[in-house]
Amino acid sequence: VLAPPGELLGVAPDEKYNVPVGVREKLGKDLLLNPKHPLGILWKTVQDYFAEQDADCKFFDTEKPVVNTVDCFDKLRVPPEHPSRSPSDTYYVNKDYVLRTHTSAHQCQFLSQYPEIKSFLCAGDVYRRDEIDASHYPAFHQCEGVRLFDAEKVSREEVLEDLKKTLEGLAAHLFQLKTGEDTMRWLDEYFPFTEPSLELEIFYQDDWMEVLGCGVIHHDVLRNAGLDPAKVHGWAFGLGLERLAMVLFGIPDIRLFWSDDPRFSEQFVAESFEQKTKFKPFSKYPPVLKDISMWIPEDFADNDLFEMIRDEGGDQVEKVDLMDDFTHPKTGRRSKMFRVTWRDMSRTLTNEEVNAKHETVLDRLVKELEVELR
Ligand code: PHE
Repeated sequence: VLAPPGELLGVAPDEKYNVPVGVREKLGKDLLLNPKHPLGILWKTVQDYFAEQDADCKFFDTEKPVVNTVDCFDKLRVPPEHPSRSPSDTYYVNKDYVLRTHTSAHQCQFLSQYPEIKSFLCAGDVYRRDEIDASHYPAFHQCEGVRLFDAEKVSREEVLEDLKKTLEGLAAHLFQLKTGEDTMRWLDEYFPFTEPSLELEIFYQDDWMEVLGCGVIHHDVLRNAGLDPAKVHGWAFGLGLERLAMVLFGIPDIRLFWSDDPRFSEQFVAESFEQKTKFKPFSKYPPVLKDISMWIPEDFADNDLFEMIRDEGGDQVEKVDLMDDFTHPKTGRRSKMFRVTWRDMSRTLTNEEVNAKHETVLDRLVKELEVELR
């Protein structure tokens, strides 16, 4: 259900508006500003680490999540046709404004607005259209970090060294690890706004886990922020907070961060990082499974289906799995089968109530996405 509001955080929608009500309701929840919420606790822990390292580091966490496409993409060298800008990946308020897809949208803004600041962190809620499972949700949180250096005194190699040392230290602090090759590794990555670009993984609970993306800020980005690359350069990183909080606190499902069930919220206190609190899952209620089997039109986007299901089912949808993808050898028509797992976190769902919502999804699929049910 789209129903554009008169305005969204001061920005007037146009025909490009594609923010469903369920996503719009997340704006202003400010989970990071709640000191007893696992995301607020993690954000505070990251700030403490940086404050300790660098007394001049500034912290921002109240920027509005509606940003313009120039800050979110152009100034960061994301080309006009890049898939991350497409309306099947990104929520648009109008042709010029989006729900920020990453906190990097604020890099140039802060660098030009506060020329005296040499290092900052900026955390906030970010939004992406995506699949549905235990670790993907259309709204999540990131923390951006930037540190600048005097280009006449510090070489690019030294900037890179400082970046690695700082972030290995952060990972070691968060996960109580020793820094070293058996617990952490750096992989080459690509981001248009950093050169070189890297990714940090840590070995935790028997597996390599991606922690963050980072790199040395691209010259063009510095110029776009009004800085002279001959005089300053620096590094940037972006950290997704949900996945780290899930691992740190043993939270099994990303929907729980948004739940107001006291059986979740009352398990955390401001000191939960120091106390190594682990979430004790309350009993899982039985799921209801529903399959959707259909012939799809050529321009069908899976994300449109996921969003429609999310729209009707809200947080009662646990995951959507692609079970079958088949192209008819003679007609060339393509069919897909998805399995939707419905499960409420606080009670047992009845087959009747799920059926009613499932039928609505099927109706809308036929009418709005022009599929043919099989
Ligand atoms: N913005 C990137 C992302 O969302 C992360 C990043 C930030 C990478 C800063 C490099 C520098 O994936």
